[in-house]
Amino acid sequence: MRILLLAHTFNSLTQRLFSELVALEHDVSVEFDISDTVSEEAVRLFRPDLIIAPYLKRAIPETIWLRHTCLILHPGIVGDRGPSALDWAIRDGLREWGVSVLQAEAEMDAGPVWAAATFPLRPGRKASVYRHETTEAAVRAVIAAVNRKSDPDFKPERVSGQSHPPMRQTDRAIDWQRDDSATVLAKINAADSFPGVADTLFGQPCHLFDAVPESMLKGAPGSLIGRRETAICRATVNGAVWIGHIRPAGGIKLPATLAFPVAADLPELPLAGYWKSPAPTWQDIAYEEAAGVGFLSFEFYNGAMSTAQCQRLMAAFLWAAARPTSVIVLRGGSDFWSNGIHLNTIEAADSPADESWANINAMDDLAEAILRCDTQLTVAAVGGNAGAGGCFLARAADFVWVRDGVMLNPHYKNMGNLYGSEFWTYLLPPRVGAAGARAMMRQRLPMLAVAAVKIGFYDACLPARGFHVDVARRAVEMAADPDIREKLAVKRAKRLADEALKPLAAYRAEELQEMNRNFYGFDPAFHVARHRFVYRSAHSWTPLHLARHRDPARLVSHG
Ligand code: COA
Repeated sequence: MRILLLAHTFNSLTQRLFSELVALEHDVSVEFDISDTVSEEAVRLFRPDLIIAPYLKRAIPETIWLRHTCLILHPGIVGDRGPSALDWAIRDGLREWGVSVLQAEAEMDAGPVWAAATFPLRPGRKASVYRHETTEAAVRAVIAAVNRKSDPDFKPERVSGQSHPPMRQTDRAIDWQRDDSATVLAKINAADSFPGVADTLFGQPCHLFDAVPESMLKGAPGSLIGRRETAICRATVNGAVWIGHIRPAGGIKLPATLAFPVAADLPELPLAGYWKSPAPTWQDIAYEEAAGVGFLSFEFYNGAMSTAQCQRLMAAFLWAAARPTSVIVLRGGSDFWSNGIHLNTIEAADSPADESWANINAMDDLAEAILRCDTQLTVAAVGGNAGAGGCFLARAADFVWVRDGVMLNPHYKNMGNLYGSEFWTYLLPPRVGAAGARAMMRQRLPMLAVAAVKIGFYDACLPARGFHVDVARRAVEMAADPDIREKLAVKRAKRLADEALKPLAAYRAEELQEMNRNFYGFDPAFHVARHRFVYRSAHSWTPLHLARHRDPARLVSHG
C-alpha cells in the first residue's frame, strides 16, 4: 500500500510507525504539515492509498479528506476528544488510557473509529508515557487500521464522544501552600515535556519540568530547600520535590541551576557516592551491584549529555571499573539511553562553538574509558531510545543489548551535517562494513532495534516486557561463566591488536578534525540547525530522505 504520513514533525512515534510500515513492505513517504498547499501537493505527487496523521497540530484540509481516506491517531481512548488527551488522563490519575485511530472529518476527533488500543496508565511523565505505552498501542492500532483498509467488509464505527477543552496553565497551576507532593508531581508530569507548568522562581516567571519525588527533605511550603548538581529542591505541604529543568520566560529549557545561576547560593545537598539511594530522591547517576555485575544507570533528562554530565559519568564508570566485578551493565535512563551532546547547554553557552568542542571531547573521553576498560566485560543495555552520538557511545561497550521497540537514529547529519565522533569510524565499519556505514550515515533514517541487530550493528534485541530483568539475568550468567577470565584476556588482546593497527588516538583526532570544522569552520550549518532544534522552530520543508514522493528519480519513473 502507498501510505503518506502527514505529521507536524518526524517525532519518535512517527519514526516508529514509519519504520514498522516500511518493515511490512508498504511504500511509505512523509510530508510535514507546513501548509495546506504543500500537503495537497504531496498527495498529488504520491497518490497515496491511505494517509495517516500520527502527530498533527492542526486539521487536515477538507480538499484532502474529502477525496482520500485520512486516519488520525488520537492519543486518547475511543470517544475522547480534545487536544490535551494525555495531559488530563495523567493529571486525573486515570488507571487505563489508550489510543484511537479515527477517520478525518470536519469536526476534530469526531470521525468514525478504525481501530483502538488501551494500556494501563502508570503515574509517570506525559512524554514517557507517550514514548512507551502510547507508542506501543499506536503501532498495534495503526497496523490494525491499515489491514482494515484492504478489507471490503470493514465499516468503521461511529461513536458518541466527550470533548475535553485544552488544558490551560490555570488548570496546571501549583498552589505551593496547599498542594501535596503527589499533586505537584502529577501536575508537572502532565505538562512534561511541553508546555511545562508556569510558576515563579527567584521572583522570575518560568516553566517547570522534570519533577522527581523526594522522600526525606522538608521545609516551609514553597521554599527552596537546596540544590544537588543541577536540580533544585522545593518544599510542598507534606514534603518536597526536585525540579530538574526550567524554562525561564523568553529562554530555553535548561537544567535548573543553569536556568537560574542564582541557585548556586542554595545549600548543596549532596548524595554520598554512586550507590543507588534506597529512598526516592534526585539521583541522576546510580550504581547497583549483584552477583559480580555492576549496573550503572544514568537518568539524564532527554538523553542529552552535557560536558559536566559526561565527566561525572566517566568518573562513575572508572569507579565502577575499580569494583571487584566481572561485568558492567550501562543502563542509561528509562526513556533515553543517550542522545549525544547536550544541544541546549551548548546553545546557552557564551561561546556555543567552545562548548560544543568541550562537550564532544568529554563525550569522547567517556567513550574511550569504556573502550579501554580491561577489567570487566561491558554491556550497553539500551532500554530507551538513542540518537546520534548516543547510538555510538553504546557501541563502545563490548555488547549492546537493545529493547524491542526502541527507536535508534544512528547518524549525525540531520544536525547541520555534523560529522560525528564517539569513535564511530572505529566502531561502525567492522560491524556493518564500510559501505553499510556510509549508507547509515547518508540515509539519516531511524532504525528499529530489531533492524540494528539484523545488520550486526547491535548484538541482541530482547523482548520489551521484562527487559531489565532479562538483561540482569544474562549479565549475571556472563559474570558466572567459568571462562570469564579467558574472555577478558581475549578482549585485552583484541584491543592491543587494534591499537597496533591504528591507535584510538588517531581515530579520535581524525573525527575531531572534522568536528572542529563543524564548530569553528566557515559553514554555520551545525549552529543554525542546533538553534532551530533547541527553539523547536517549525519546519519550512520536508527533507528529501523522508519526502520520497519528491525524489526526482521517483518522479521521473512515475511519469
Ligand atoms: N540535546 C538536548 N536536547 C535534546 C537532545 C540533545 N542532544 N536530543 C533530544 N533532545 C530533547 C529535545 O529537544 C526534546 O526536548 P523537549 O523535552 O523540549 O521536547 C526531547 O529531547 C525529545 O526530543 P525529540 O526530538 O522530541 O525526540 P524524538 O524521539 O522525536 O527524536 C532524536 C529523537 C534523537 C531523533 C532527536 O531528538 C534528535 O535529533 N536529537 C539530536 C541528536 C543530536 O544531533 N545530538 C548531537 C550530536 S551527537
